[in-house]
Amino acid sequence: MNPRTRPVDATTPLEPERIHNTLSTIHRDQRAICDALEAIADALPISVDRQACLHAARALGPLITKAHQVEEEMIFPMISERWITTPGLDKIIERLKYEHFEDSCYAEEVQEALLSFVRGERRLSAEALGYMLRGFFEALRRHIAFEEDFLVPLFGFCGSRGRLN
Ligand SMILES: [Fe+2]
Repeated sequence: MNPRTRPVDATTPLEPERIHNTLSTIHRDQRAICDALEAIADALPISVDRQACLHAARALGPLITKAHQVEEEMIFPMISERWITTPGLDKIIERLKYEHFEDSCYAEEVQEALLSFVRGERRLSAEALGYMLRGFFEALRRHIAFEEDFLVPLFGFCGSRGRLN
């Protein structure tokens, strides 16, 4: 098994490199769902793959829930404890948790809208669905970028570009 995709073991202390790898895996999975949602939005209104909609709708909730759970229950507490003297870190964690809350609520709406679309209910116009999808994945990409910019450097890494030192 690739060590970067190994699930987090709650009994093992999280060292900086392991925290970084875990966060990278979460970001990779979230970017993948963003890409899938963007492909759906781009294909609206007539070229949409309904199977892709169904797959994205089913994957979205568990993926977002798992990402937030791992970050808030394991990664953020470890970061707060290890880098307790870093100025402004509490505010950053608070902001990220609030964005998680917003993303969770938005993800539920997106999931419902996609399922409704697959069922042919057309509760939203194609334009409105596309607008909703773009609003969600653009916000999630901004959240990931913020975590990359403010959290990843703590581990001695520079985003997806590799180690700083
Ligand atoms: Fe996050």
